[in-house]
Amino acid sequence: MSKIISREIRLTSRPNGIPTAANFSLAQVELEPPQDQQVLVRNLFMSVDPYMRGRMNAGQSYVPPFELGKPLDGGAVGEVIESRAKEFKTGDAVTSNFGWREYFIAAPKDLHQVSREIQPLSVYLGALGMTGMTAWVGLNLVEVKAGDVIYISGAAGAVGNVAGQLAKLRGCKVIGSAGSMEKVEFLREECGFDIAFDYKTGPVLEQLNLEAPDGIDVCFDNVGGETLEAALSALRLHGRIIACGGISGYNEEKPRPGPSNLFNMITKRLTMKGFIVRDWLDHQGEFEKEAGGYFRAGKLKNKETVVEGIEQAVGAFVGLFAGRNIGKMMVKLS
Ligand SMILES: NC(=O)c1ccc[n+]([C@@H]2O[C@H](COP(=O)([O-])OP(=O)(O)OC[C@H]3O[C@@H](n4cnc5c(N)ncnc54)[C@H](OP(=O)(O)O)[C@@H]3O)[C@@H](O)[C@H]2O)c1
Repeated sequence: MSKIISREIRLTSRPNGIPTAANFSLAQVELEPPQDQQVLVRNLFMSVDPYMRGRMNAGQSYVPPFELGKPLDGGAVGEVIESRAKEFKTGDAVTSNFGWREYFIAAPKDLHQVSREIQPLSVYLGALGMTGMTAWVGLNLVEVKAGDVIYISGAAGAVGNVAGQLAKLRGCKVIGSAGSMEKVEFLREECGFDIAFDYKTGPVLEQLNLEAPDGIDVCFDNVGGETLEAALSALRLHGRIIACGGISGYNEEKPRPGPSNLFNMITKRLTMKGFIVRDWLDHQGEFEKEAGGYFRAGKLKNKETVVEGIEQAVGAFVGLFAGRNIGKMMVKLS
């Protein structure tokens, strides 16, 4: 096979605050044909995720920072164009961590085969991928069960809407907050949330007290800041907090002071558990079986906001911090 021309997004400078197009470049590279034990993949969809913002900073975290002048990486789903490894054949659908580029060459161990029966394949980056698994792990972490009143922040986003749908399937009363009336309607009408409110129209605690006057048992926190503070006040005795994310602080240049009402942890005997979904990959099969079953039965929806073309990937990523997505923000690569 002749050489392949591929485009990729590189980080050219580290952002201060909200990233801009000037922090990135679109580069063209020529890939050599695959060698023995290598597979050539064309990406069909790539994921943009809030956690990538942390990797754009220089400091070490639970994942290494992105390197300047190098392509970014992240979740992607694609199809095998040529395989020189027995594990894969042309046409197979695979997920990988080689996002932010159109084509790549990888070893079989870095690819995860998925079924082509479910379409579009972007579902493997959404409800049936790491996004859905994040929601599932979070709920399992504090044993969310029938009868629990659960409040989910960032509820109309990728993780949040799946967490709400799965909590409904477990028999919970589900409350969600999101940043527009369109999102509130989506939560109520498409995801089956019992209650949803727009956190931009008034203080979160006031709205939560109004909607759940008897308090909540669980908070699935994607946002941090004011949301977490409100949850600490609204939680009942022995309440649980799933510390999934804190997007409200990701672009801040200085660490923000913690919640002023943390003492509630003591007086109400609360539990707060944090997690990183990648620590739970041993449970991926179990998740895929449960979520796949719901999905095939029409009980779990995969909502996406799709932009087209690698040129739009940076805009899609930055759009996460302005709430431009309902469901999973997805980049379709042509
Ligand atoms: N622990 C883990 O392993 C793990 C794995 C995946 C994701 N996460 C975390 O889970 C959270 C959700 O991730 P996701 O992939 O599902 O992203 P997402 O919710 O689909 O996208 C981000 C959403 O966050 C909201 N948002 C942005 N800035 C905000 C602010 N200042 N205050 C309140 N809301 C804001 C926006 O919705 P609105 O219109 O509602 O503002 C936006 O649509 C993130 O914090 C992420 O880091 C954690």
